[in-house]
Amino acid sequence: MSRIIVTGGAGFIGSNLCERLVNDGNDVICLDNFFTGSKDNIRHLIGNSRFELVRHDVTKEFYAEADQIYNLACPASPPSYQYNPIKTIKTSVMGTINMLGLAKRCKARILQASTSEIYGDPKIHPQTEDYWGNVNPIGIRSCYDEGKRCAETLMMDYHRQNNVDIRIVRIFNTYGPKMDKNDGRVVSNFIVQALQNQDITIYGDGSQTRSFCYIDDLVEALIRMQNNKEGFIGPVNLGNPSERSILEFAERIIKLTNSNSKIIHKPLPSDDPTRRRPNISLAKEKLKWEPKIDIDEGLKRTIEYFDNLLKNENNKE
Ligand SMILES: NC(=O)c1ccc[n+]([C@@H]2O[C@H](COP(=O)([O-])OP(=O)(O)OC[C@H]3O[C@@H](n4cnc5c(N)ncnc54)[C@H](O)[C@@H]3O)[C@@H](O)[C@H]2O)c1
Repeated sequence: MSRIIVTGGAGFIGSNLCERLVNDGNDVICLDNFFTGSKDNIRHLIGNSRFELVRHDVTKEFYAEADQIYNLACPASPPSYQYNPIKTIKTSVMGTINMLGLAKRCKARILQASTSEIYGDPKIHPQTEDYWGNVNPIGIRSCYDEGKRCAETLMMDYHRQNNVDIRIVRIFNTYGPKMDKNDGRVVSNFIVQALQNQDITIYGDGSQTRSFCYIDDLVEALIRMQNNKEGFIGPVNLGNPSERSILEFAERIIKLTNSNSKIIHKPLPSDDPTRRRPNISLAKEKLKWEPKIDIDEGLKRTIEYFDNLLKNENNKE
């Protein structure tokens, strides 16, 4: 049993992680300012003696004792991180400094949720961890990409200068239950549009690729990484290497939902990466981890979640 802080614990990944950590018998403190997260994601944990929820903004200092920290706080979808870009970069930079300070003080191990976006629009495929990336420092995605790059730098400097025990994971596109249905991410958008028989919007011609990892696979990898006994092994890519075009993905969702939706195309936003696929050799070797849940199974579970959510919303109206 460990005392574990999860920042961003009311968000999509954080709430799934909190649930797993509590079920595994840990004491969990969930910190969240509810910018993109929601109490609905963690409602079932409130009242559990192993779970504490604290409304807190990570740009401010936080004091508690802990053995481990998962630093996940940061809006992750482009519409939400571009809503207030200054706040986004503050969250990554000041939030990471505050959590590293806490880790240093109580000698906790800290895991930083970094992202495939630190590779920018990559010039090599698939991306390995030693690739330094191709990032636009002044574009509209920079508040997120550069904030996350700076967070990695801070982790490394606290490690080198102060011996803080760190873990860095670069998460690639993840999907599953508890994603926000309105935050504009591909999977949730497509599923909600398909379930409502609305047009499915594809930005560009749909030939851009993504690789999608199911949430339970990712949570397993986060826990393995945090508890890896080898110490710091460098940043590790986490994702599902099976790469698919966005168009193929939309067609698969239409089929699985038996939807009448039509596919329509809109212009591609600027700096949208054309290809994205992780090389997960390091995770396979060091964490003995690879995704287990195939895309159709993962999509079925996610469709069921959104179907229930939409039905409950309709019942409330
Ligand atoms: N979902 C993905 O595919 C993906 C991919 C790469 C990296 N990540 C990273 O994983 C982490 C979690 O992503 P997610 O998909 O769960 O996103 P999310 O938006 O669902 O969750 C982020 C959580 O952080 C909270 N938050 C934001 N700013 C905060 C602040 N200043 N103080 C306290 N809480 C704050 C939000 O309210 C939310 O609960 C993020 O750091 C994200 O960058 C996610």
